[in-house]
Amino acid sequence: MVRIGVIIMTLAIVGTASSGDLPDPTALPLKAELPDPLAMFEKGVKVTTKEQWEKRRRPELKQLFEHYMYGTAPKAPKVNAKVERIDKNALGGKATLKEITLTFDGIDGPKIHLLLVIPNKGKGPHPAFVGMNFCGNHAALADPKIHLNTNWMYPSQKGVKDNKATDKSRGTNIDVWNIEDAIDRGYAVATFYSGDIDPDRADERGIQKYFAKEYDWSTVRAWAWGYSRVIDYLVTDADIDATRIIAVGHSRLGKTTLLAGAFDDRIAVVIPHQAGCGGTGPNRAVFGNKGAESVKRINTSFPHWFNNRFKQFNDEPERLPFDQHCLIALCAPRPVLLSNATEDQWANPTGQFNMLVAADPVYKLMSSKGIASKTMPAVGKLMDSPLGYWIRDGKHSMNREDWGVFMNFADKHLKGK
Ligand code: GCU
Repeated sequence: MVRIGVIIMTLAIVGTASSGDLPDPTALPLKAELPDPLAMFEKGVKVTTKEQWEKRRRPELKQLFEHYMYGTAPKAPKVNAKVERIDKNALGGKATLKEITLTFDGIDGPKIHLLLVIPNKGKGPHPAFVGMNFCGNHAALADPKIHLNTNWMYPSQKGVKDNKATDKSRGTNIDVWNIEDAIDRGYAVATFYSGDIDPDRADERGIQKYFAKEYDWSTVRAWAWGYSRVIDYLVTDADIDATRIIAVGHSRLGKTTLLAGAFDDRIAVVIPHQAGCGGTGPNRAVFGNKGAESVKRINTSFPHWFNNRFKQFNDEPERLPFDQHCLIALCAPRPVLLSNATEDQWANPTGQFNMLVAADPVYKLMSSKGIASKTMPAVGKLMDSPLGYWIRDGKHSMNREDWGVFMNFADKHLKGK
């Protein structure tokens, strides 16, 4: 009895406001400076211990991000997995390939087609990269047996006709995923198509249609939710080391990667690549570089990526009770690498570095070394501290050089774990 009483009291003290109690965006104060990640939303009380961060500030920040930006997602249903195919002789015998279909208990709706490639060399369970792709799994490897995705596809992807993948799209993204390099370095790779969860169209929703209307989860929120459902499966696969899961994603899927890392503690290392606005780049333009995408612009071009409330910050992002350093901080003390390219100023490489620096006090509180230096590293030099940064020459893309860096970063932080 006494213990129950104590638990209820503790919950009352640490409990955060329910979403209904949160102010309307227009009633929030204008804050030109970056909100202090260690100050509570209500009354600005400072968080000074790990417990306060974990029990009070972290849940509060998650709620603020869902309420004002990404939308609120429902709890997970049970995930059912059906292994469709196993090829123990993939990549010339170097790897075992599995194709798995994930379905959601009680929901006759979207399915996730998961491609999992596992090294044959070395003793398992293996660390694994998990990432959403833009192209369908059939484009990530040259294997004619891989399930050809039948969902709506981006017309810009090679081999796509009338928004559907054709056999011509097979193997067209090998250089984006570099799976063979990962296998050679002892990493498994799990990948799935974002459109299995939500088709990335303003006029069409995916998984959201199967849940109650009260949930205002946006496309980016739904994708991050889908990431976690894949992890629900991965942690049950005996070939995968559940303590060494690295999430990686490019651009809009990089925004998703950071959100997934912030909400799902099972992700050990978080690598959002060229994510920028709505992910790793600041909402408050003054903390970024010239020519970077703004809140207003992203909400206008991609109205479905975030919730409706976020649009009320178009002209005054300074009213947001957080900035994106708080999303990075939600990952603490887990390592986060922000990865960039010099010709991709749209993704705000300078602003991203500023977000990393501003997340550092939370990492320090959580006994992590945080960021190695408050000065941006030179082009081509990896800053491999737990708050890590990488910028290379070149354009908006994910390539082999990037993967080399992702694996160096993962090696450093997961070795000996
Ligand atoms: C657009 C968008 C970016 C996004 C990118 C992508 O450029 O403005 O925010 O990151 O698409 O996903 O490729």
